[in-house]
Amino acid sequence: MITLIYQLLREDEKFIIESAKKLNIELNLLSADKLILDPRNFQFKDKLILNRCLSQFIGDQITHFFETFNIKVINSLEVNHLCSNKFITSLFLIKNNIPTVPFLVFFHEEMIDKVSQILENYPLVLKPIYGSWGRLLAKINDRDAFEGIIEHKKNLSSPYHNIFYTTKFIEKPNRDIRITIIGKKIVSCVYRESFHWISNTARGGKIKICNLDKELENICQNLIEKIPEGIYGIDVFEYQNGYLVNELNNTVEFKNIQKVTGVNISDEIINFCLEKINND
Ligand SMILES: Nc1ncnc2c1ncn2[C@@H]1O[C@H](COP(=O)(O)OP(=O)(O)O)[C@@H](O)[C@H]1O
Ligand SMILES: [Mg+2]
Repeated sequence: MITLIYQLLREDEKFIIESAKKLNIELNLLSADKLILDPRNFQFKDKLILNRCLSQFIGDQITHFFETFNIKVINSLEVNHLCSNKFITSLFLIKNNIPTVPFLVFFHEEMIDKVSQILENYPLVLKPIYGSWGRLLAKINDRDAFEGIIEHKKNLSSPYHNIFYTTKFIEKPNRDIRITIIGKKIVSCVYRESFHWISNTARGGKIKICNLDKELENICQNLIEKIPEGIYGIDVFEYQNGYLVNELNNTVEFKNIQKVTGVNISDEIINFCLEKINND
């Protein structure tokens, strides 16, 4: 009924497999390493693909291929597109009046003084437009650091490192908030606590339960109305008695959240897949 495509069976995927067994849903496992995406010999018997590839680039090709043959994929290409590029995500948030971190993009080192002026001085944060797990983020405390890091980035071979996505540094408490949204539902809300300014769990952030207040719930409901339906991890910062949405994530890791909150996110994922199949 459902095919789960994976590159690595992490604890998250194992939770999904357990949920499918418990709910008596046929879940077929398919390793991306065994795939040949050949359009002349297209055969597929299941009703939906749950794409859990680790690599966003490999995952995207797979989603594109199956959607071409009208097979439903979770997350859809539309969701992938919205989440994978941080600049595209930020533009979407601004366009839909969701409070977010001030950001901009520039391409040449001669702009750095103008940029720091627009973003109201240092510290700033420079991020790769594609990336996760808090990798390659740079907090820039002054002009010298900004100049140095831009020079280093310009010498990297990948063209996307020449896109300088820059945001204001947000003086948040020693934590941020991670909300999981599945379909139209807010499924969980936790803090990620850390002594480092980068609080991803992949960088040692610890999960603690967080109660969603009315203001944050309203922001999430507003977001749910605007985003294409899917499975999302939303990063939120607490700032000056309010909230700023930092980014939207695709193919979310949830094992630690499931363990700490007791919310069965993997059940929710399977139920969402079923809902999508039945809405045909
Ligand atoms: N502008 C910022 N101000 C303060 N902290 C930030 C800022 N941007 C990112 N962080 C910290 O770094 C973490 C990772 O940043 P994020 O933009 O979510 O990238 P990734 O896709 O790698 O998770 C955030 O969860 C937060 O803890
Ligand atoms: Mg993040």
